Amino acid sequence: MTENFRFPADFRWGVATSAYQIEGAAFTDGRGPSIWDAYALMPGKILGGQNGTVACDHYHLWEQDLDLIQGLGLSAYRFSVSWPRVIPEGTGKVNPLGLDFYDRLVDGMLQRGLEPHLTLYHWDLPQALQNRGGWANPEIVHWFTDYALTVYERLGDRIKSYCTFNEPWCTAELGHHIGRHAPGIQDLKTALLASYHIQLAHGETLLALRAQNTRAELGTVLNLYPVDPATDSEADQEAALLLDAKINRWYLDPVFRGTFPERAVAHYAEHMPSIDPERLKVAAQPLDFLGVNYYYRYWVSTEGKTLQDVERTDMGWEIYPEGIYRLMKDLHQEYPAPKYYITENGAAFKDELQNGEVHDEARVRFLRDHLQHLGRAMQEGVPVHGYFEWSLLDNFEWAFGYAKRFGIVHVDYETQKRTLKDSAKWYRDFVMQQRKFQAEEV
Ligand code: FCB
Repeated sequence: MTENFRFPADFRWGVATSAYQIEGAAFTDGRGPSIWDAYALMPGKILGGQNGTVACDHYHLWEQDLDLIQGLGLSAYRFSVSWPRVIPEGTGKVNPLGLDFYDRLVDGMLQRGLEPHLTLYHWDLPQALQNRGGWANPEIVHWFTDYALTVYERLGDRIKSYCTFNEPWCTAELGHHIGRHAPGIQDLKTALLASYHIQLAHGETLLALRAQNTRAELGTVLNLYPVDPATDSEADQEAALLLDAKINRWYLDPVFRGTFPERAVAHYAEHMPSIDPERLKVAAQPLDFLGVNYYYRYWVSTEGKTLQDVERTDMGWEIYPEGIYRLMKDLHQEYPAPKYYITENGAAFKDELQNGEVHDEARVRFLRDHLQHLGRAMQEGVPVHGYFEWSLLDNFEWAFGYAKRFGIVHVDYETQKRTLKDSAKWYRDFVMQQRKFQAEEV
């Protein structure tokens, strides 16, 4: 099919991580507590009672980790900044040691030829702000904008791209409705209110950063899914459309159109918080890029049917490489952005370290097949400019603790030893092959 597709010469090949999942050093150099530190203390919330206090100790081992990325021949690195490391109380006093860390990290990337792609919010809200209502408090719009400007002032245009939010659905829905993520609230109205404030914070931050005349690209990152009805019954089709409105369009529409999707608004009915439609328009700032995190599709049955005979990852997620093709084609049609990045794509498997090696064939296949389908979308005109594999390292997988291994690099949490899995070597060789093609063409 697209075996011969050649990715463009300036295509960004990268890996992605996030602060709370890898940094550790949770109480080092003045970092304030985050909602994940607090959530991890609540009994029964995290598998095995684990937390991110040490994680991959990336705060101390960052040079070694950047060396690994460079060693794989990659050209870009997507990471996130921990808000409570930079402003421990969330507002007010800035922690210079926290900013110093990101300063070193970014210079370290540049020295190694790695383009920095920075995410401002990957879920680790300062606990001090949660105590003031967190995402449910309208004040958070300017708390967040101030934080973003603080980061920008220090790192500026050394950063290639700034992303405001990683997967706002997770913050709003998992954090405030389902309660399976910090802060662990279970209230639909609060979740919807949080999602509204996130949209406002996104828009206001883009405005504030544009006002700095930044040369960096500005955008956001959404988790998106193809949604398929299990049968062509009217009930299944309706249910699929509703789910699509709730998980995909609830986050796409504000950013692209400045509105929430009607179908979902009608469904939420009395749970809808009061929303100012005029104010929401601020969310629809021109984007330089949209980041897409793709993992699996939803298959919707009103009769409780489940997809049989499909391969699944250790998360139980269907392995569906064609989904990346369908998703990108549909997006480009309905929500055209000048540029897309795949900001996350990857899989957890039960990896085993044996004699210093990890033979993760399933992950190699996963990557190969997804890249092939991504290539197909690009061949058909979708402007995808980069791919960030999730993740560089095995890490703290939120409510699953350390039980799920997503890395292309294995981490021994006792010794912090990193070992390249076969998938890392495969990715390295794949990228090298792409470069060879390009060199031949010149
Ligand atoms: C995404 C998150 C990321 C990681 C992967 C597996 O939803 O953005 O932090 O947990 O899933």
